[in-house]
Amino acid sequence: MNILLLGGGGREHALAWKLAQSPLLGKLHAAPGNPGIAEHAQCHAIDVTDHGAVIAFCHAHAIGLVVVGPEAPLVDGLADSVRAAGISVFGPSRAAAQLEGSKGFTKDLCARAGIPTAGYVRTDSREDALAALAGFGLPVVIKADGLAAGKGVVIAETAAEAHDAIDDMFGGQFGSAGAAVVIEEFMTGEEASLFALTDGGTIVAFGSAQDHKRVGDNDTGPNTGGMGAYSPARVLTPVLEQEAITRIIAPTVRAMADAGMAYSGVLYAGLMLTADGPKLIEYNCRFGDPECQVLMLRLNSDLVELLSAVADNRLAAIAPPDFAPRPALTVVMAADGYPGTPSRGGMIAGIAAAERDGAKVFHAGTQRDDEGVLRASGGRVLNVSASGATVRAARDTAYHAVDAIDFAEGFCRRDIGWREIAREAG
Ligand code: AMP
Ligand code: GLY
Repeated sequence: MNILLLGGGGREHALAWKLAQSPLLGKLHAAPGNPGIAEHAQCHAIDVTDHGAVIAFCHAHAIGLVVVGPEAPLVDGLADSVRAAGISVFGPSRAAAQLEGSKGFTKDLCARAGIPTAGYVRTDSREDALAALAGFGLPVVIKADGLAAGKGVVIAETAAEAHDAIDDMFGGQFGSAGAAVVIEEFMTGEEASLFALTDGGTIVAFGSAQDHKRVGDNDTGPNTGGMGAYSPARVLTPVLEQEAITRIIAPTVRAMADAGMAYSGVLYAGLMLTADGPKLIEYNCRFGDPECQVLMLRLNSDLVELLSAVADNRLAAIAPPDFAPRPALTVVMAADGYPGTPSRGGMIAGIAAAERDGAKVFHAGTQRDDEGVLRASGGRVLNVSASGATVRAARDTAYHAVDAIDFAEGFCRRDIGWREIAREAG
């Protein structure tokens, strides 16, 4: 089967790498792809906001399955268009992608279905939002309703900060994403991510991970898309994972199907492990980045078989996903300046040397210049990944590889995995 993979980050390089291992794969195409993906796929410039162009490409290249990496095309309804053209697609419909695209949609669904999550108020009025603050303690969480590239969440420690956050959101700081806000009770606990594949009926667990959102060592500095991750998240014990599936993921999938918006794809639940059990922080309608990279390192099953079974409503008919118990860890190398304005064009060398001792380097934000020199082209640039007998061993292999990479205009955190390594030592 020929596959078109959409996206060009580290998540998509990891997916391409795994798809390419499948005997079921014919030819892999990617758009836009990146130099790492190009090792497995033919890369093309296709405007994914032009659904007709994507469909025409699929017809011209006999594509049997489209795999959508990022959330924006899903929220934009690309999966609906591709499906309507009779082509299988891995990724939810526009209506189902509201689980990520609208925080208020998800909170309302949780309230209706009795899914454990933080108490909240959703409103599109600045005055109502300010008045609602009185009903919350401190800290309080203020979120822009729509997609804001992971930046639309403020944890306000004081009433003044909460007030300012509401003003900023209604003032247009996040554009239309802030036209409505959700105010939430602050939950305490450890965070973990749980992934599930579903075709709208059948649900299978698809691994867990923990990431490091802050840019600096010891979890300091501004939030990022993720500076590193490891899998599994052992803090999410089998008992807690089952509880999360039974009380959070399964009722969500059921409620979506009942509402005529059956969810098909990967459902990524951000969980807070509170004293009262797992509670939902948020959903994403795609794989996490860089969580996907560590999941793919651990996945033993055939990814083509899994993703096409999801796309074609055949998940119940195939063997459930199998993951190696060995943990995997990834370190993000970012360009100087990230998560602000990253420096572009920094030269990168040494990837082959970095991979010599068993690490795998996924390209996240790279491109080749006219001379073929690899250069940084984004904020997060490389995902230096490894597995090992322990998280500590995986980390040692990953950092050994990091040290073999020559990327003068880049940096990384030096403490990825610290929580889990402390527990292993514990
Ligand atoms: P989100 O974009 O919804 O995942 O939020 C980003 C981050 O904000 C999460 O990973 C949490 O660390 C934090 N956060 C979001 N909502 C809450 C909440 N209700 N209580 C505590 N922390 C939260
Ligand atoms: N690493 C967090 C995310 O993909 O949303």
